[in-house]
Amino acid sequence: SSSSKAESDPYKLVHDEMAVLCSNIRNELGTNQGDLGTITHYYFDGTGKAFRPLVVLLMAKACNIHQRAEDFLAESQKKIAMITEMLHTATLIHDDVIDASDTRRGKESINYVWGQRKAILAGDYILSIVSSVLARIGNTEVVSIMSQVVEDLVRGEFMQLGSKEDKNERFAHYLNKTFKKTASMLAASCKSVAVLGQCSEEVSNTVYQYGRNLGIAFQLMDDLLDFISSDLQLGKPTAADLKLGLATAPVLFASQQSEGIEQTRLLATEHTKEAIRHLRKLTTSVPQEALISLTLKLLQRQK
Ligand code: FPP
Ligand code: MG
Ligand code: MG
Repeated sequence: SSSSKAESDPYKLVHDEMAVLCSNIRNELGTNQGDLGTITHYYFDGTGKAFRPLVVLLMAKACNIHQRAEDFLAESQKKIAMITEMLHTATLIHDDVIDASDTRRGKESINYVWGQRKAILAGDYILSIVSSVLARIGNTEVVSIMSQVVEDLVRGEFMQLGSKEDKNERFAHYLNKTFKKTASMLAASCKSVAVLGQCSEEVSNTVYQYGRNLGIAFQLMDDLLDFISSDLQLGKPTAADLKLGLATAPVLFASQQSEGIEQTRLLATEHTKEAIRHLRKLTTSVPQEALISLTLKLLQRQK
């Protein structure tokens, strides 16, 4: 029915938390650093998709309902949502330096406006605040789960610098890189909110698998959009991967004499199905339904 659809609208369910996300982040970053304040606040203007915090907050609610039949969010779980958006943004600021990209989220990129040196330090600064917010949660298991993400992000980005790998291993290399660059953060942040919701190890690992599959599907669609979309639609340069000499799924499939675009979509579909299979192991709930609908919508993503 239309009413149950409205109830499981992903954004509406966590509207209150999402509405204060950027201002909470700006508070954490501080406002008294002059240029550093201006630059580090620049992308936290409330116009981003904020896909990661959305997933994290919905997952926290789904885990809480599964564990104790109520969806009240712990402050620590809200901090994980904030951490994902901050960490993601820090990596994008560095990524735009590496990729020499002059636009991001429909604006001029930080490196374009303020130069590379300040962009690198802005990313470092945000990362430093991420570390302190994470430490303040005061849960060493969660510190270690989330620290792995930082390592994976760096390793994933590094893997992309030179692809000297064997031709037969190219696809495995690409998927491994995709896990590290994108899926690791979704997997680990889902697991963290499960741990913080006192879920069992089994549930924590199940939601980790949900995040992992969601992340791989998300990046496959991202790589597809880089191919078929326009700069205006995405708010960042397109065909960027090709220009950088990077072979992503659409190219790798095409080089195996198969329909690159269609095969990429198919692989993304398989990962969304696997994600949903894991998610369904949790108690049925409205936030769980919202996560399922968000997962399926990924395949129709336009930006
Ligand atoms: C975007 O990829 C880049 C990433 C998801 C990861 C970038 C990671 C780093 C720069 C290293 C780690 C940095 C820190 C601060 C820990 P893309 O270039 O394919 O996507 P785009 O089209 O959005 O630019
Ligand atoms: Mg880039
Ligand atoms: Mg890049």
